[in-house]
Amino acid sequence: MEPKGRLIGVVGAIALAAVIVGGVIGWAIGHSGRKAATVAETTVSGGTVDPHVAAGAHDFVQFACAQCHGLGGRGGVSADVPALTGLGTALTVDQLTSIIDHGLGESANPDKPYMPVWKGVVSPAQVSDLVEYIRAGLPDVPLAEPVPIPEGQGAAVAGSRLYVRYGCINCHGPNGLGGIPNPEAEDKTIPALAGADFREEFNTDAKVGEMIRSGSVIGKPPIVSMPHWGGILSDEQLADLVAYLKTFS
Ligand code: HEC
Ligand code: HEC
Repeated sequence: MEPKGRLIGVVGAIALAAVIVGGVIGWAIGHSGRKAATVAETTVSGGTVDPHVAAGAHDFVQFACAQCHGLGGRGGVSADVPALTGLGTALTVDQLTSIIDHGLGESANPDKPYMPVWKGVVSPAQVSDLVEYIRAGLPDVPLAEPVPIPEGQGAAVAGSRLYVRYGCINCHGPNGLGGIPNPEAEDKTIPALAGADFREEFNTDAKVGEMIRSGSVIGKPPIVSMPHWGGILSDEQLADLVAYLKTFS
């Protein structure tokens, strides 16, 4: 080996040793830290947030609670949907769990949104996290944000993001393939939005749009129903969703 090559070899070995030592120290620091705090916490501006509260904040976005009750439950979407920020601990864990699992019944006015039934779609662990998040006062949690809707890329593209933002995907599956269980309903599943059966029944844009606008309560809780989106989604957003649904097989 040339002297220069040997020197590079020695320097390389030292660098490698430094990386290994650094890694071991880093591992040790990480582990001692974990021992001190038994629960890992997310850092938010001005403090930390309990992992269950953080999970609840993400569930609140994923299941589109935020699209009806406003981001952080601050209201402002529709006069018919209450803000949740003022609730604090006014409702017990059991009361909140029951409202989320079973809804609050259909509105007496069929033109108004109602609180949907979530049992079976939102898991018991997720409901428990949502309850903790609401009782903690719905604090801001980093990255618990709805997906943005691209502009100027056409109706079907906007619709594809609305399908996620408004939580349609949780009940009807990716690409409208369906298969999500609804044990108390007659056909035992939430319907697919793709396939011949769907296209046969919903053979015009108007029929699809009307179904999304008015929703459908197919029975009493615990049957999961189609939420009423009139007053929540604009006519343009409805048209975008209809355009997206047309891209399904
Ligand atoms: C389609 C719109 C819509 C969606 C989505 C929705 N809600 Fe609601 N929610 C409502 C309406 C409307 C009410 C009021 C119903 C009533 O008073 O009869 C309500 C009521 C509530 C209440 C009771 C508030 C009170 O002051 O008593 C809670 C708690 C609640 N919703 C939580 C949630 C959570 C958690 C989610 C997500 C899993 C969610 N909601 C999703 C429309 C919605
Ligand atoms: C909480 C679960 C849930 C969510 C969220 C939901 N749906 Fe539904 N949807 C249902 C159920 C249940 C039915 C069946 C209702 C019935 O048979 O009366 C349905 C029916 C439909 C239908 C008619 C299909 C058929 O065969 O009856 C369309 C179209 C539809 N939903 C579109 C959407 C869109 C678009 C969104 C998002 C904006 C959405 N749904 C969000 C549960 C849901």
